[in-house]
Amino acid sequence: MPISLRTQVGIVGAGPAGLVLSHLLHLQGIDSVVVENRSRQYVEERVRAGVLEQGTVDLLVEMGVGERMKREGLIHYGVELRFHGHSHRIDFKDLTGGKGITIYSQHEVVKDLTDARIAAGGQVLFEVEGVSVHDFEGAKPKIRYRKDGQAYELTCDFIGGCDGFHGVCRPSVPEGVLTEYERVYPFGWLGILAEAPPSSEELIYTYHDRGFALLSMRTEQISRLYLQCKPDEEVSLWPDEKIWQELHTRLAAEGWELTEGPILQKGVTRMSSFVAEPMQHGRLFLAGDSAHIVPPTGAKGLNLAVADSRILARALADFYATGRHDLLDGYSQTCLRRVWNVQRFSWLLHRFPDENPFDRRRQLAELDYVTSSRAASQSLAENYVGLAMEW
Ligand code: APR
Ligand code: PHB
Repeated sequence: MPISLRTQVGIVGAGPAGLVLSHLLHLQGIDSVVVENRSRQYVEERVRAGVLEQGTVDLLVEMGVGERMKREGLIHYGVELRFHGHSHRIDFKDLTGGKGITIYSQHEVVKDLTDARIAAGGQVLFEVEGVSVHDFEGAKPKIRYRKDGQAYELTCDFIGGCDGFHGVCRPSVPEGVLTEYERVYPFGWLGILAEAPPSSEELIYTYHDRGFALLSMRTEQISRLYLQCKPDEEVSLWPDEKIWQELHTRLAAEGWELTEGPILQKGVTRMSSFVAEPMQHGRLFLAGDSAHIVPPTGAKGLNLAVADSRILARALADFYATGRHDLLDGYSQTCLRRVWNVQRFSWLLHRFPDENPFDRRRQLAELDYVTSSRAASQSLAENYVGLAMEW
């Protein structure tokens, strides 16, 4: 017999979406339990993106989990776009009225959130097995799972499906309810983490004949670099010297040097976009990667997950305070507006395998426009630092 437990909001997944949701609910006096199938160490060491929008930073600070991020994060007020060997800076501060981005790894955000949940006595259960979600079309949804060999049934008022793209929540929605939109891009990203001080203070996005390249960073000692590659690229065909050589070629600009260093990690990321609509069915609410994924180009996945959880937490708090459910009913529509806008902002710097010379000239014209028109630069900057949370 399973042991019966009860909470207000049962949350599947201790990634950014689940942890932000749980902590925001706690701050409003609402009880939640998070169940996660991986170990705490695994979740806290999983290397992902590292760019936080202004709204994400502000929210983490408001939630009281921003101390280390403020200390260790690198604030950037611009990025460089590089093509034809020339650099063009997009000045966020000037173009957005003072906003910027913060470079701080997703797994550090996850550590800070987990520490905060546990310090506040929150229940985050790691290494649970066989998670399944039930009865969310009625008033008493349930999450079933096993921990240390014992079966549990957690009855709740609502379920937060924060279990990422490969989780169990989205597939548990009955067939025919969700419409799924998908686009798989005909290229991937070969990414490396290198023990080398970043060769630029700000991120550099390059459009080159041989494909896109990006210089990013994690800290003042660690660079993160990417090269556009085939979607099924074999990492083993890329010894370190070949990677550095290709980065030198694609990122080249007059009077600028790329600093090399030992490569700590390398891997290929496939690029795809996915959106499931609506993001809710009955009392099951999907948030973050479980409902949508964006290509890594804009580094928006974490920011979208945080935005969803903020909107969901507010809607749940309003329901518990007033009994009204209009914010809950509007959850999906509110989130999807931002999600689709971010899909739209999925970048112009890649070379497509099937492009013709016309496509290439048109793409270069777009880059020329983005870097020379204030209106176009402003639009890019506004999207990059992140649309206002209320958008
Ligand atoms: N049961 C319990 N937990 C699960 C299950 C399951 N069946 N399936 C997945 N999980 C857990 C995963 O182990 C992971 O810790 O759910 C969590 C989902 O977290 P993320 O994948 O980080 O997704 P999300 O919180 O939506 O954050 C989105 O993560 O994928 C990146 O780049 C993406 O930055 C974005 C962010
Ligand atoms: C990263 O540092 O991982 C990163 C930065 C910017 C991007 C994508 C990824 O656009």
